[in-house]
Amino acid sequence: MNPIIIVHGGAGDVPDSRVKGKLDGSKKAVIAGHEILVRGGSALDAVEAAVVSMEKDEYFNAGYGSVLNLRGEVEMEASIMCGKNLDVGAVTLIKDFLHPISIAHKVLTDSPHSLLGGEGAKIFALDKGFHTVDPKSLISPHAKKALEDFLKHGEFGRTEIGMDEAGVGTVGAVAVDSNGHVAVATSTGGMSGKAIGRIGDTPQIGSGTYADDLVGGVSTTGHGESILKYCLAHSIIKLMEDGLDANTSTKKAVNGMTSRLNNTAGAITLSKNGDIGIHFSSKRMSWAYIKDKKIFYGINQGEVFEEQYEQQ
Ligand code: GLY
Repeated sequence: MNPIIIVHGGAGDVPDSRVKGKLDGSKKAVIAGHEILVRGGSALDAVEAAVVSMEKDEYFNAGYGSVLNLRGEVEMEASIMCGKNLDVGAVTLIKDFLHPISIAHKVLTDSPHSLLGGEGAKIFALDKGFHTVDPKSLISPHAKKALEDFLKHGEFGRTEIGMDEAGVGTVGAVAVDSNGHVAVATSTGGMSGKAIGRIGDTPQIGSGTYADDLVGGVSTTGHGESILKYCLAHSIIKLMEDGLDANTSTKKAVNGMTSRLNNTAGAITLSKNGDIGIHFSSKRMSWAYIKDKKIFYGINQGEVFEEQYEQQ
């Protein structure tokens, strides 16, 4: 089949000043993943590459630019899933590595476990050759400002990367490769002003991430506590399994979560045949995919831009 990849750059109340950066970063990420797929690479490698691209980009709440906890520290989490055999890898409470998604991928391939956290995840990563970075080097001026704003107002959700509009800027990618294998990766810094040790939806399989070659794949973004209560990613998979198309399933589950739990979210979905689902109940969510030599992308409700894309 024709391989395909879609990415998101987080659902939420993104201010106008951050729109262009998110759109540019989403396009760059989808190209990074697409280039792997068209060279015959695996869906797993493609989703990792797309997420790595956004983890390096301060416009996203993942890797460098992650939001800060109440103590002013970055604590990141990520998960990745392979639809061929339902293998998973996830990490949480990562403080001093730039690319949590790559450690999660290593958990998938090299660990008998599915989810490693904190000190144990660090020991595993060091053992596998990952290099630590100074935790302070992961803190962007924007994330600092968001925490200051949060602490001043004492309420979640006042900033782009605040909590009301959820883990805004969480990033994710879903791909189907030329062998028909589905993979999904999701990575986040969580929510600004979160408690120390708070774990959200992103590293929890079925909430932030799900992939099954028999059905499709989903990556979610938004209010973590709501997404995990609703098992949002797997809810979308279940609807597809019951016969709904990718877009209807995505819309139905995201809206269902929002009406049940009164918080917003977004999701990107691919069916096993490469059909696309994109929906968000937040004000904005950046997304991008490449199809028929065009990049399609958007961030506002109902908006779709397209540009010609010539592979390098
Ligand atoms: N969805 C990201 C978070 O709430 O942690």
